[in-house]
Amino acid sequence: MRPESTAIVTGGARGIGQSICVELARRGASVVVADLDTDEMAETKEMVEETGRRCEPIETNVGSSEDVEETVEWVVDEFGSVEYLVNNAGIAGPTASCENVSTDDWEQTLAVNLKGPFQMCREVVPHMRAESFGRIVNIASVTGKRPLPNRTPYAASKMGVIGFTRTLAAEVGDANINVNAVCPGSVDGPRIRRVFERQAAETGRDYEEIRGDVEREAARGELVDSEDVADLVGYLCSEHSERITGQDINVSAGKVMY
Ligand SMILES: NC(=O)c1ccc[n+]([C@@H]2O[C@H](COP(=O)([O-])OP(=O)(O)OC[C@H]3O[C@@H](n4cnc5c(N)ncnc54)[C@H](O)[C@@H]3O)[C@@H](O)[C@H]2O)c1
Repeated sequence: MRPESTAIVTGGARGIGQSICVELARRGASVVVADLDTDEMAETKEMVEETGRRCEPIETNVGSSEDVEETVEWVVDEFGSVEYLVNNAGIAGPTASCENVSTDDWEQTLAVNLKGPFQMCREVVPHMRAESFGRIVNIASVTGKRPLPNRTPYAASKMGVIGFTRTLAAEVGDANINVNAVCPGSVDGPRIRRVFERQAAETGRDYEEIRGDVEREAARGELVDSEDVADLVGYLCSEHSERITGQDINVSAGKVMY
């Protein structure tokens, strides 16, 4: 990564975003974590600072245009430039058949997962253009490529993120700004373990059996770690991926192959 460079990572307080913050810091960037609650970002700050890099948490709701404008303005004032942007913040949205999804739930899911990346890019791209350099990575999902029944708002948002990624890549390529999407499969961690536990309680089936079913959906028969996703983001921010843009790349242990 570029020396003295700055990365903004949205939703970096925990999970995949936290691993991305640490990976980009290891590769040499100062990291700004933009998430909902500054207290929750304390652990990420500590982990990033252990690498010797600077980390600044900043309270931001990516669904709010005012918040996003203020955050980007603050980062540019404080650091002078933004070379890397990772749009990772996302919510699962409701689990319900389409006819039972409320308009509020639909709007909330799209506001965070799709409007969020758009607003972040709208504010950051002019600064990247001014430097003739930028690397943007949008965290989509394998659900951005294939249906996931009972999750229409989430699927629509992630499919939208892939379309947004391709279109923005075509707009800004001549300014040496690359825009790619990363599509994780099921990531191991507390969130998915809670889902398996809930399904086990609801169905009376064994936890390991439920987990095994999900693992077998992938060619490698396993889940993905958040570090696997962070590694690919790091590569897409490195000098080794200069001519990769407008792509949507799976990290799914072979669950989805297109
Ligand atoms: N975990 C998975 O299995 C999986 C699979 C595919 C894609 N993804 C995607 O990866 C990304 C990260 O997922 P995760 O599992 O680490 O999630 P997570 O819930 O563990 O973390 C998401 C983070 O985003 C933050 N956030 C939520 N709404 C926000 C908002 N409006 N503004 C700013 N920050 C906000 C949360 O506070 C949290 O810190 C998401 O976009 C998700 O859709 C996850």
